[in-house]
Amino acid sequence: MLVAGLGLLTWGAFLVMQATTKNWVERDLTLRARLAVNGASHILAEGLRAEKPAELKTVLTNLVRDERILGVSACAPDGQLVATAGVAPVDFGCLQVTPFVFPKGAPLGSPPLEWEHVAGIRGGRAHLNGLAVMDESGPAGLVILVHDLSFAERRDAEGRNLLLVAFFLLSLCAALVTIIAVRLSWRSWTQRLRRMLKGDEETDEFRPLLRDVRALVDEIMTERDADGEGGAWTADRLKQALRRNLHGEKIVIVSNREPYIHERQSDGSIRVLHPASGLVTALEPVMRACSGVWVAHGSGTADRDVVDAHARVMVPPGEALYPLRRVWFTEEQEKGYYYGFSNEGLWPLCHVAHTRPIFRTSDWIHYGEVNQKFADAVCDEAEIEDPIVLIQDYHLALAPRMIREKLPRATVIGFWHIPWPNADRFGICPWREEILDGMLGASMLGFHTQGHCNNFMDSVDRYLESRIDREKQAVVQLGRSTQIRPYPISLEWPVRWLKDLPPVPECRRGVFEELGLSEDALLGVGVDRLDYTKGIEERLQAVERLLELRPELLGRFVFVQLAAPSRTAIDRYRVLNESVEAIAKRVNDRFGSGSYRPIILKRAHHEPPTVFRYYRAADLCYVSSLDDGMNLVAKEFVAAREDEKGVLVLSQFTGAARELTESLVVNPYDLDQSAEAMAAALMMPIEEQRARLRSMRAYVAEFNIYRWAGRMLRDAARLRRRDRLSGRLNDQYSARFTGAES
Ligand code: G6P
Repeated sequence: MLVAGLGLLTWGAFLVMQATTKNWVERDLTLRARLAVNGASHILAEGLRAEKPAELKTVLTNLVRDERILGVSACAPDGQLVATAGVAPVDFGCLQVTPFVFPKGAPLGSPPLEWEHVAGIRGGRAHLNGLAVMDESGPAGLVILVHDLSFAERRDAEGRNLLLVAFFLLSLCAALVTIIAVRLSWRSWTQRLRRMLKGDEETDEFRPLLRDVRALVDEIMTERDADGEGGAWTADRLKQALRRNLHGEKIVIVSNREPYIHERQSDGSIRVLHPASGLVTALEPVMRACSGVWVAHGSGTADRDVVDAHARVMVPPGEALYPLRRVWFTEEQEKGYYYGFSNEGLWPLCHVAHTRPIFRTSDWIHYGEVNQKFADAVCDEAEIEDPIVLIQDYHLALAPRMIREKLPRATVIGFWHIPWPNADRFGICPWREEILDGMLGASMLGFHTQGHCNNFMDSVDRYLESRIDREKQAVVQLGRSTQIRPYPISLEWPVRWLKDLPPVPECRRGVFEELGLSEDALLGVGVDRLDYTKGIEERLQAVERLLELRPELLGRFVFVQLAAPSRTAIDRYRVLNESVEAIAKRVNDRFGSGSYRPIILKRAHHEPPTVFRYYRAADLCYVSSLDDGMNLVAKEFVAAREDEKGVLVLSQFTGAARELTESLVVNPYDLDQSAEAMAAALMMPIEEQRARLRSMRAYVAEFNIYRWAGRMLRDAARLRRRDRLSGRLNDQYSARFTGAES
């Protein structure tokens, strides 16, 4: 830019200079011509009047001796050439020039005019002057002088070259000055930055940068082991990180769903169930890695029989790694809080799956009572006045504020496992302000995606009096802030259930045998709770479409759906149950023949080892959620396929689709697209399957649940340090204040 600017400036200067010197030269030459003619005017007039060409020629020859005068012609007043010496311009002879000097019809006695012109001559250009020769009796004739102009052109060229050199030097100087100035200011900037990073100086100008640098350093530090080594996140590494950040303090996890359910069997024995819950899948490995207690609803028929006097039981059964504190509620409370407000109200409110939320005042009252029960149990379990409490999901939106009221110094972290809708939709809830206010009792709130965080902040902005600090991603109420952050949840890696599972081919053989499939059959699998958000109806319809589009798959392709009955006391779930069954029947009636049934619906609770065997047996897994916070089934399928075979077809409406980008991402409402994706999955070359799975497996291995917990607890530890410091500061102030009073 600078050089271009300077170039333009120089060019402009050159043009001005050229025009000015041209003017000067022409004036100068006219002056010289005038001088020359005036000096010899006497002899010239005599020669012209006497018409003595020989004498005139001598005079003219003398004039031509001047190195810049190339030629002179003397003409009579009537335009006749009398004598000439040197070069005579072809087009401008006496006849042509005389009318300019002695114009016809000029008033009597008016002085003759001077004529000048620039013309081309052989070998260059010349300046021509036509000047009258006068004596006492008036005009005796005129003289045409031909001046050489090549010297002026030479001068122009020299000037131009000089300017070019000046321009070059100027550019060089400008560049040098700029470099030196930038270097100097960069040096002073970096020196100030260094001083600031060392803590010697802090200015407003650098504050945002400083914050980013610190965040980055913290991020890098948490990515390293306690001993300073990097590497994958494991249970051990999480333990070390907790020891370092939280000095071994215990964590209290609270959720509605418990990780182990004790069920009484018909023969009187007790069976331990692992519930089909993404929340449990994710958090149980974290709890194994950390010391602490898990507070949850005791929902099993034998739950009360196995707990101690404090409603506690050590789990996992046989390993006794941590206590599970069970909370009991009445049937009425369960109906209002769990089935009613949580699952008929908040669940459909937060999922865009076209089921109307139902809000009843009685449910809301039970919701409040049960949240209080959980909060009381947490405070009961807390051994210190500032415990770290991880509150899980939409069942417990009011608990953060309730816990904060009893334990103002607790570090309360809320994690919302389902989507957060936009502000308009959230506004449907009659108790929207109370829900938001309850959640903001937490020091930190986590969601799966940035989109959900944004929706939450917009809802707060719309319905609560508070300040939204977009830069810090926080909500500030009465001077207390709640950080809002995305923490995409994941799985333990490696998944514990895989350890005791047979290798993939063996699992495939076993499952094929169970399902009565021939060796060359192609198997698709779906694994879900029977929930309308999972898009199971759309999934089975897509299978139907696949068979319509690809009749060659008839008799060969089978889709097995493992569907765990869920929330069956709610009408909508019963309707779904019937609808799924009806679709499966219709497809089987339409396309089945003999023993071939394209859809196998297994409506039952399946323990994790069974689920993982099915993942391993399948050629494809289709996750078709209509709206889903994360969806861990997708990640489980990826984890199960140690053989790097099989294809994941994944709904774009899951949080997982943002991470597992090598899956075949579909819109589950688009049956043609979903069917085509399944067809593509079944035909995909092994090499491509490998490449896709390898990449997704690497991602899930890296961004596993230990990393999720490590990041969240690291952030909590930082908040805790900040709160402790400000608490200490407040104590000092109040002590001083008390001292002054006494
Ligand atoms: C979702 C929720 C969990 C819940 C799970 C199973 O994943 O986010 O909080 O535990 O569904 O539902 P359920 O009602 O059986 O606990």
